[in-house]
Amino acid sequence: MKILAGNWKMFKTREEIEKFFQEINLTIVSSEVRKIICVSHSHLEAALAMATGSGVEIFAQNCATEAWGAFTGEVSALQLKDLGIHGTLVGHSERRQYFGDDDESCLKRATSALKAGLEVIYCVGERLEERKSGSTLAVLERQTQGVVALVRDFPAKVTVAYEPVWAIGTGLVAEAAQIAEAHAFLASRFSQSPEKVGLLYGGSVKVTNFKEIGQIPHVDGGLVGGASLEASSYVALHNCLL
Ligand code: PGA
Repeated sequence: MKILAGNWKMFKTREEIEKFFQEINLTIVSSEVRKIICVSHSHLEAALAMATGSGVEIFAQNCATEAWGAFTGEVSALQLKDLGIHGTLVGHSERRQYFGDDDESCLKRATSALKAGLEVIYCVGERLEERKSGSTLAVLERQTQGVVALVRDFPAKVTVAYEPVWAIGTGLVAEAAQIAEAHAFLASRFSQSPEKVGLLYGGSVKVTNFKEIGQIPHVDGGLVGGASLEASSYVALHNCLL
């Protein structure tokens, strides 16, 4: 099944979320595409209620490494599960870039989420200097080192998003050959998994380029930031995967 995952980052008020779901009302509810939107922790409960009946699943954007404890400002996977949330992003490049999330803590976050019964969309991707120095595949190998075991231990619960950092929010989309190479590498990395691991592409996905990206081998859908914010654009992105 193809997947459209929106990442709303630190955007949207309750009113805006309500308007979004009113606008997509029934347009895509029973399609063959899996529809997800990742929402700020503060607005998860409201979004869950507003998304009811829309066919869109609400995911979080991150979770803590630990289940409980004295970690002011953090939100644990158990707390997300308690709200009725089914999954979370882990390792988004903005977390890695601005908040110090690294391979080790991302793995802990993902493990914590999976143990709590959440699904995980695990984000990987090289920075521009890594791309330029030819180490993209080595970076992907390093970033997915522990993920291979997680995928084995929690079959069908992990989706991996390949997001070249230089393509996120910049308008620079990776070329089809670059996406194909990274996705083929990731597909072979997870080829021993008991269940197929879904692979999403992310980074300046737009309505105008998504159809082509969605047809690249081993691309099972997209993780989309900016272009997922407007209802009409979200629906158009969805239609690119039909
Ligand atoms: P973008 O963001 O689509 O706005 O480039 C992608 C992401 O952050 O996942």
